[in-house]
Amino acid sequence: MRVLVTGGAGYIGSVVAGQLVAAGHDVTVLDDLSTGFADAVPPGATFVRGTLRDCAAEVLADGIEAVLHFAAKSLVGESVANPAKYWSNNLGGTISLLEAMREIGVRTIVFSSTAAVYGEPERTPILETDPARPTNPYGASKIAVDTTLTEYCRLHGFGAVSLRYFNVAGAYEGAEDRWLGERHHPETHLIPNVLAATDARPVQIFGDDYPTPDGTCVRDYIHVTDLADAHLRALGAARAGEHRIYNLGNGTGFSVREVIEVCREVTGIDIAAEVGPRRPGDPAVLVASSAKIQSELGWRASRDLRAMAADAWRFILARSTQ
Ligand code: UFG
Repeated sequence: MRVLVTGGAGYIGSVVAGQLVAAGHDVTVLDDLSTGFADAVPPGATFVRGTLRDCAAEVLADGIEAVLHFAAKSLVGESVANPAKYWSNNLGGTISLLEAMREIGVRTIVFSSTAAVYGEPERTPILETDPARPTNPYGASKIAVDTTLTEYCRLHGFGAVSLRYFNVAGAYEGAEDRWLGERHHPETHLIPNVLAATDARPVQIFGDDYPTPDGTCVRDYIHVTDLADAHLRALGAARAGEHRIYNLGNGTGFSVREVIEVCREVTGIDIAAEVGPRRPGDPAVLVASSAKIQSELGWRASRDLRAMAADAWRFILARSTQ
């Protein structure tokens, strides 16, 4: 199939693009490189540098049959400081893409959504039918896209699948021994920060007074290759007139202290950590129910937290020798 991967030079988009190429699809990546890296685009994919607004129509017109849409801003803190950037990029950019798809007649889309749409959950594990009450503009912009997609399915016969990721981690060894992993600037995610810690700059544990067994926040971590597998299944499951929504996590929570311990075991390094203040806006526990995607698409997470930490570490080691 001829597929367009928007944001395919970013962390998750590049891994999915790599797996699509490996599965025999004809892949075009559209990315403006505002946060992505041209060298993350997999060999074998066509790369177009540009924005959704300026370039989506031209790229789609080149025989594209389906879109996997990752291009977005994704920093919660930045979204609070600059909400307009998130509405403009995440919602405005997506509307440009959807309009171009509608005009050209491409009606299949898999959308990169987030657990942030749920905000502070009433219960865990979180079901797709639980209330979406985002607590920051990032989550709000993503739920706005979900609403828009539902409308495009209803009014224009699109077939859409939204995947709501919980905490994505790990790395992927793609073609030609190229490791793809997290290269965010600034890096806000826990596992890369733990693996980058030194005695002089210990990893900060953002609060240890939460109502959890060890007092630190609990999250549901999912390996980026399991996530990519879900995207390939979602692509095959999209049906005209339907907007499907699935959570994607492992269904198991790990605390910040547990994550640090696993990283110590995997690296053999006694990684330095210190407790700091809470980070504003962090819910105590976020764990997904992935029962729906398991039963409807036959998807299963196959890699555990240890594999995520080990692969993230391999990625760092591979980059340090390049
Ligand atoms: N944490 C630390 N120290 C760090 C980084 C993170 O203690 O240096 C803690 C956080 O407070 C949180 C946990 O580790 O409790 C995980 O934090 P991440 O930043 O790795 O991930 P989040 O759970 O904050 O974010 C994820 C996704 C976001 C999404 C959000 C929804 O990465 O895209 O869930 O709440 F918006």
